[in-house]
Amino acid sequence: MNDSVSNSSNTNLLARAQKVLPGGVNSNVRLAVRDRFIVRGSGPRVWDLEGNEYIDYLLGQGPNFLGHANPEILSAVNAAMQDGMLFGAQNPLEVEAAERVLDAIQWAEQLRFNVTGTEAAQAALRIARAHTGKGKYIRFQGHYHGWLDNVLTSTKLGFGSPISLGQPMSALSGCLVLPWNDLDAVSKAINADPDIAAIITEPMMVNSGAIVPDTGFLEGLREICTEEKIVLIFDEVITGFRLSRGGAAQRFGVSPDLATYGKAIAGGFPVAAIAGSEKLLHKVGTGEINHSGTFNGYAIGSAATIAAMKILGRPNIYANLETLGTTLMEGMNGLAVKHGAPLHIQGLPMAFHLSFGSDEKIRNYEDLVKQNEASYKRFVAVIRESNIWITDRGIWYLSMAHTQEDVKETLERFDNALSKMNFEL
Ligand SMILES: Cc1ncc(COP(=O)(O)O)c(C=O)c1O
Repeated sequence: MNDSVSNSSNTNLLARAQKVLPGGVNSNVRLAVRDRFIVRGSGPRVWDLEGNEYIDYLLGQGPNFLGHANPEILSAVNAAMQDGMLFGAQNPLEVEAAERVLDAIQWAEQLRFNVTGTEAAQAALRIARAHTGKGKYIRFQGHYHGWLDNVLTSTKLGFGSPISLGQPMSALSGCLVLPWNDLDAVSKAINADPDIAAIITEPMMVNSGAIVPDTGFLEGLREICTEEKIVLIFDEVITGFRLSRGGAAQRFGVSPDLATYGKAIAGGFPVAAIAGSEKLLHKVGTGEINHSGTFNGYAIGSAATIAAMKILGRPNIYANLETLGTTLMEGMNGLAVKHGAPLHIQGLPMAFHLSFGSDEKIRNYEDLVKQNEASYKRFVAVIRESNIWITDRGIWYLSMAHTQEDVKETLERFDNALSKMNFEL
């Protein structure tokens, strides 16, 4: 580390950062966590500039599913980068990476790599429009599919509406926002509009809450899309490789027509993919559907993807993660009772959501916003002081690197944080 940085405090460095980076950050998602600079991560832990150690449940917003600086990922990347980073030509590693990802997800025949989930979502929508000759798409309230003009929308139902200055209204004219877990709303929208090319959904809603689909919801979408010749897109950028080796499609037993992957695909390296049938991706291969990107399939990203897929293919790792996450969720629930905290936990052991308020199941965005967001934000500030690294969105991600010891320590810190919240008993 550069000396002028190592001698700095979090506060001093934020002042410097704010001079050169708008808001002091490089992604607006980080505006909420800009007060600490992380200088190192190892396994499930990170350290800030002032030497504070945190148990990490943010995991870089998901990508560090194998833990920070996973030695097998580092060694694969290190070996690959000795021979160069990318060539503007084919490299054998990208072929093996594609084979291994397809072997993991099983339902798809082909894929194309990208670098970010945002790009993969754009590719999916373009392919759907090309395939159907139709122009609009359905998405769901509270889901996120990247920050570009045609997908970044407010949570208002109906036609999409911009949430950023500079976003043209026209970009969202093809975007219809519906409530999630509501098949009737989907059927009605499709009956009313013959121009729907695609339905895109997070197969488990993780960007707002951690909402597992109601029984029959994904199956219902599948049926409607097949019947109406609409392309069903699962945005597996969070769920891919996290919910199971085959992602949400495997976990919930429903196959989409196209799916996007990112985050956990490459052990923390920026890699994303759009996967589907040979039939749907054929015109990408002929060049009739444009899909490009200087860094797509770059050698070190492909090496990281191969290494990640090898690790994720080992026996018992998902079963261990389920056990660990269940222990953590149950422990938190027990501590909430002890402190009289109106805590609501839902989701799956590898991605769950905490909120304060009603303990009724949250089924959609409208349910979620009834929870007490201010209380949870206050709690996050307190638990950060107990050295747990999370965001104030409520989501907790587990990695393959967390251990029973980490969970035990987390519960002690959680206990300590709840005791400072002064809930009425
Ligand atoms: C479900 C989903 N899709 C797409 C994206 C966009 O991915 P990226 O940030 O890599 O562009 C995200 C990012 O959080 C996401 O959660």
